[in-house]
Amino acid sequence: MTAVPPRRNGFLRIALATLAAGLLAVVAVTAWTWQRSEAHLAGFALPQPFTAAIPTDAASLATGRRLALTRGCIGCHGERLQGEVFGDDFQTGRVVAANLTKHVHDHPPAVFERALRHGIGHDGRALYSMPSYNFMRLRDGDVAALYAYIRSLPRVETPLPQPHLGLPVRWAIARGEDAAVPAFLPRVPPLAWQAHPDPAVRRGEYLAMTSCNECHGFGLRGDDPFAPPGGAPPDLAIVAGYGKDAFVRLMRTGRPPGGRDLGLMTRVARGCFAHWTAGEVDDLHAFLSAMGTAATQ
Ligand code: HEC
Ligand code: HEC
Repeated sequence: MTAVPPRRNGFLRIALATLAAGLLAVVAVTAWTWQRSEAHLAGFALPQPFTAAIPTDAASLATGRRLALTRGCIGCHGERLQGEVFGDDFQTGRVVAANLTKHVHDHPPAVFERALRHGIGHDGRALYSMPSYNFMRLRDGDVAALYAYIRSLPRVETPLPQPHLGLPVRWAIARGEDAAVPAFLPRVPPLAWQAHPDPAVRRGEYLAMTSCNECHGFGLRGDDPFAPPGGAPPDLAIVAGYGKDAFVRLMRTGRPPGGRDLGLMTRVARGCFAHWTAGEVDDLHAFLSAMGTAATQ
């Protein structure tokens, strides 16, 4: 009988033990990541239920439609708000903008409002990709008009895959380096110009703080926490240097003076801001000019 050489035997044992320890460590880290990130997502208190009356008149439905166009719901949730796969990669996972025509039939207005203004989904867990920081200042009447408009649309049955959060994002959340949407909401400043004597400035602030602050920083000052390093969209105080005509052209065509293509800005202007009324563009210009002038004083 030839015995197995002891050295080889020892090597095999060490290799197997290392492999087992490695596997165990991977399982433990994954389990820890999962448990910690789930605790984060489930850890936000539900807001007071939304109780505003849902209108049914034609004017409110038209307001709701314009909100859906100008605030980008249609841009992300699809032409008929039928829901869309927004991205699918290892890092973030599979991001699916919900089917809103189905959502408003399956859930009461309070569940809709909770997602829109508080970043908490129908299952009570925090959302990760829905830009609620952009909508948290929407007024009750506008939230109700949006809900009413979406309710009035035909319910579209789209086969959408299950969304999931990627492990790298969960790992960042578990270590406290990233967070779900509700964690960012306390950083959105309150409206600060609502006592201004010019009503156009007051209306313009409301428009800007429920649209432009998706990308130009929560308070419009070019400090977007989600922008790539060095690539943050500018402080909107820049608009003080824009004449009215140039600003109207930017909102309608996405082109600044000189005609440069602004990439994302050009797309969002054509998709959303081209739907502002002439009065809304005037209001935005009045507010952003006042804000810019105040910033340089
Ligand atoms: C930048 C893209 C984007 C925009 C703009 C956007 N959404 Fe969403 N929304 C999402 C994504 C993605 C989800 C899926 C949840 C997630 O991944 O955060 C979502 C989820 C939702 C949900 C369902 C949450 C749930 O699970 O219960 C509602 C309701 C909703 N959005 C309403 C709106 C409305 C109304 C607007 C316009 C005022 C809007 N969204 C604009 C991307 C967007
Ligand atoms: C979806 C993201 C997004 C939203 C929403 C958005 N912007 Fe922008 N905006 C950008 C980006 C990105 C740039 C920088 C583009 C560049 O310089 O290449 C930009 C640039 C600008 C500029 C500077 C143009 C110049 O002269 O260089 C102005 C002014 C501007 N945006 C106004 C607005 C206003 C007003 C709103 C709201 C009505 C708004 N933006 C909403 C992404 C956005």
